[in-house]
Amino acid sequence: MYSKIAGTGSYLPEKILTNADIAKFVDTSDEWIKTRTGISQRHIAAEDETTTDLAEAAARSAMADAGVEPKDIDLICVGTATPDFLFPNVGTLLQERLGIHGCPAFSVEAACSGFIYALSMADKFVRLGEAKCALVVGADTLSKMVDWKDRATCVLFADGAGAVVLKAATEPGIMSTRLHADGRYKDLLLYNDGVSKGFKKVRDGTAAVQMKGSEVYKFAVNTLGQLVTETLSANNISQAEIDWLIPHQANIRIIEAIAKRIDMPMDRVIVTIAGHGNTSAASVPLALDAGIKDGRIRRGQLLLLEAFGGGFTWGSALIRY
Ligand code: UT7
Repeated sequence: MYSKIAGTGSYLPEKILTNADIAKFVDTSDEWIKTRTGISQRHIAAEDETTTDLAEAAARSAMADAGVEPKDIDLICVGTATPDFLFPNVGTLLQERLGIHGCPAFSVEAACSGFIYALSMADKFVRLGEAKCALVVGADTLSKMVDWKDRATCVLFADGAGAVVLKAATEPGIMSTRLHADGRYKDLLLYNDGVSKGFKKVRDGTAAVQMKGSEVYKFAVNTLGQLVTETLSANNISQAEIDWLIPHQANIRIIEAIAKRIDMPMDRVIVTIAGHGNTSAASVPLALDAGIKDGRIRRGQLLLLEAFGGGFTWGSALIRY
């Protein structure tokens, strides 16, 4: 038994913030942001728009694409670092919105790798015969936790959601997923407050995403380079067989460095960073949906998805679409 992608969907909030808009309130420039990151603009959720709102829109579009009804879904798994509440989890909130009752519904916290982690878990449920039609979502509203006075992070992060419907199939589908984490690097990229920390920093206004950018950058390039190579060799396939690399969209320079490492021409890499920024767990499913909807990714092609995020966490998925 395998799981296969039956449909994809995505959602981006209406509000667009350009580099020029950001340059009005922090000391930065369109030129710096474009050259150092590849980002031109990003979508930002409205004040009353939550991660579940974004997830719902992406999920509905993936379900329509897959031709499935709420009654068909028997598992919901959401990767997110920005839940509406601490509980109920976003999976459960989404379940209620979609009018689905009773099936397992949960969220996975793995920062920007959240979607790959969620996909890997849902794939295992399907392979074990515990689910036949799973809804997997990556959704985040990081704009709500960045310090909008910190130019080193506020120019990077953005909001969005992407979703896939996985169905049980006799052939892959998802050929393999590989997940990794190393908590020794927890201080290089973190949001420095939470429930059991007492939300003290939230109360005194100093809670924010903190990142040692250039250290994260170096680690991400090395680790993702190794991950891609490891994924290819574990599945006994060569780079030439991959039709599309669908990377986490954190920085165009990271994406290009990884493509170069495996000799992958950039015209076989799906890049959405210019328009989306870094949408955390939404970044990979947003890129996947973009490539499918604009006709570049076609049925039968071999896809390599990869992501890297705070923790550190990282992971890949090799998929016959
Ligand atoms: O999604 C999770 C994983 N996240 C990532 O993978 C992000 C990894 N890191 C990066 O993408 C890059 O490190 C950044 C885009 C965050 C920064 O690029 P960088 O080339 O590593 O720049 P830097 O941090 O070394 O900073 C270079 C200079 C500094 O000035 P000085 O000290 O050289 O005078 C910064 O203060 O650029 C300055 N700077 C800025 N200047 C204009 C930092 N942010 C900005 C800014 N506008 N927004």
